[in-house]
Amino acid sequence: MSTPDDTLAALRGRRVVLCVTGGISAYKAVEVCRRLVDAGAHVAPVLTDDAQRFVGAVTFSALASEPARTSLFDAAEPIPHTRLGQQADLIVVAPATAKVIGKYAHGISDDLVSATLLATRAPVLVAPAMHTEMWEHPAVVDNLATLRARGVHVIDPEEGRLAGGDIGAGRLAAPERIVEAAARVVARDGDLTGLRVVVTAGGTREPIDPVRYIGNRSSGKMGFAIANAAAARGADVVVVATVRRPAHPRVRVEPVDTAEQMAAATLAAAATADAVVMAAAVADFRPKAAADTKIKKADGVPEIVLEPTPDILALLGERKRADQYLVGFAAETDDVRANAASKLSAKRVDLMVGNDVRSGDSGFEVDTNRAVLLDAHGGVDEPGLVTKVALADLILDRVRDARRPHEGAHA
Ligand code: C5P
Repeated sequence: MSTPDDTLAALRGRRVVLCVTGGISAYKAVEVCRRLVDAGAHVAPVLTDDAQRFVGAVTFSALASEPARTSLFDAAEPIPHTRLGQQADLIVVAPATAKVIGKYAHGISDDLVSATLLATRAPVLVAPAMHTEMWEHPAVVDNLATLRARGVHVIDPEEGRLAGGDIGAGRLAAPERIVEAAARVVARDGDLTGLRVVVTAGGTREPIDPVRYIGNRSSGKMGFAIANAAAARGADVVVVATVRRPAHPRVRVEPVDTAEQMAAATLAAAATADAVVMAAAVADFRPKAAADTKIKKADGVPEIVLEPTPDILALLGERKRADQYLVGFAAETDDVRANAASKLSAKRVDLMVGNDVRSGDSGFEVDTNRAVLLDAHGGVDEPGLVTKVALADLILDRVRDARRPHEGAHA
């Protein structure tokens, strides 16, 4: 187990640009700044004009590693945003208002904070804070989904007291949580560089006739979370998917519909992959023969004969190279751990992620998951209810850790 101090060690000596935007919780960014400095980071603060209505730049200048910047034009240096962006190891936006999230998602750069966000290739951690109505507004939800798909890290706000005495979701995450998240982002930055990762996503559709199919409720959210996180961490990623979702620029999407098509695309891509993650919900059976024309109701109840589909994961397990890491999912409605354990050995995978698809906050369609991670060495990890994005990173940590001893052997 790592101690909190180990957790923050990744920040030591790193250049962090702390962007503060104009929300009532801007005062908590002072604490974020102090904690980042205490962890050994070199902190360069940048404040928007609105942020300075809530908290003074002088406070940040006193606590940070260099004076706070507030303008694209007033500093001694002519183009502060490019220097800040290029030299950063991490950019943290705390608090992030709906305004800066919207500007960032749409590529608008009209002040030093938004220009710095566009002028960087460093990882970015955004800590939103706003009223519940704004946090739940479809525009904000969509903008954050866009940013997440591009690999931007988001630390969700908490429920609690908001400005003006209101209570609800939207309160800035606690400063210590923001700093811990920052350390995790830095520790994972580029740690999958050079790896080729294949992910499958979504539920397959097995045609009954040209308009009907046998399908399932898989949304592809888990698969895309893994694909996007892997790309954000430096991997080259192929996602074989039955659904369309926002994808990181380094993710190549191979669209498929049926289990047969998914098998062909996945087995081909897996031949050169370092890791394969079968997050898709693949149909186990398909109609033996799909009708060429729409089956007519007037012809009575049809008899549909089913046949098994290829078990892609089992085939991958049979063909697995010694240096390849294979992850399977087990969507279960009961006995999650026992069912996942039996699939772990039957399909010869390195990691089986059993998830409960019956409770409302876990499994199909939702943004969170409650999973048990079983590895081939008997290791069991139950992270509890977490976002699919967070679970994706935990799964990818296993991919990375499996890779490291192998690399060491060649060193
Ligand atoms: O046995 P079960 O279908 O529950 O196993 C689930 C795992 O196997 C998932 O990772 C799923 O993607 C994979 N699978 C597959 N091909 C099938 C059925 C499931 O690859 N035909």
